[in-house]
Amino acid sequence: MLQDCPTQTLSRRSSFVLETARLQLRKPTLADVKAIARLANDRRIAEMTRRLPHPYAAADATNFIKTIAGEQHETVFLIEHERAPVGMVGIDWADEDAPELGYWLGVNHWGQGFATEAARAVIDYVFDEFEDVTQLVSGARVVNPASRRILEKCGFQWTGVELHRFLALGSSTPCDRFKLDRHVWASLKAWSNATRR
Ligand SMILES: CC(C)(COP(=O)(O)OP(=O)(O)OC[C@H]1O[C@@H](n2cnc3c(N)ncnc32)[C@H](O)[C@@H]1OP(=O)(O)O)[C@@H](O)C(=O)NCCC(=O)NCCS
Repeated sequence: MLQDCPTQTLSRRSSFVLETARLQLRKPTLADVKAIARLANDRRIAEMTRRLPHPYAAADATNFIKTIAGEQHETVFLIEHERAPVGMVGIDWADEDAPELGYWLGVNHWGQGFATEAARAVIDYVFDEFEDVTQLVSGARVVNPASRRILEKCGFQWTGVELHRFLALGSSTPCDRFKLDRHVWASLKAWSNATRR
């Protein structure tokens, strides 16, 4: 659910809040630097995400927040549960034809369905608010079954394997690639709304 939507046309910046049953997704600010660094500073996260360095210091979080503050090609949300940060989710719009979904959670928060819940909220936001978007893409290292499962639960379909560079690994590694077509998302939404009644 989109909350506090500004009156001007929605931009791709996350200057509003998405709410789910258990989570709030909002734009990260410099006040979140310590919490983000504490959550992200774990090799188990860095080795599964392309751009997270390891170790991850407060300075890395500060740079990240300053970078995303001024740009349009990345929409980033801090995921909060009971008002405490638990991870991040976002969309990289670098390829306009195939915006890419990404996410990570602090290790203490794994296994509670948070990533799936946050991913679904962002997927709904993109397809609801940007009618020209026909598909989303995402990916997961072939050794990351949890992320693969999240994408499948959200309706993504496997499209193949590509090599991608991971900063914390210092090398490239095989990744499963997935896409979610708008019509698949719409069918799943219709089915879930019908079964909820
Ligand atoms: C991947 C990650 C986001 C999962 O977060 P999470 O909140 O625990 O995920 P969810 O609970 O929403 O869903 C995980 C699903 O994977 C399943 N799963 C977890 N570990 C698994 C494993 N080893 N093998 C198979 N399935 C697994 C869970 O059972 C769950 O599926 P279910 O709901 O059908 O039971 C989290 O582990 C993380 O941040 N990892 C490091 C960063 C990362 O991998 N980011 C994604 C980059 S593509």
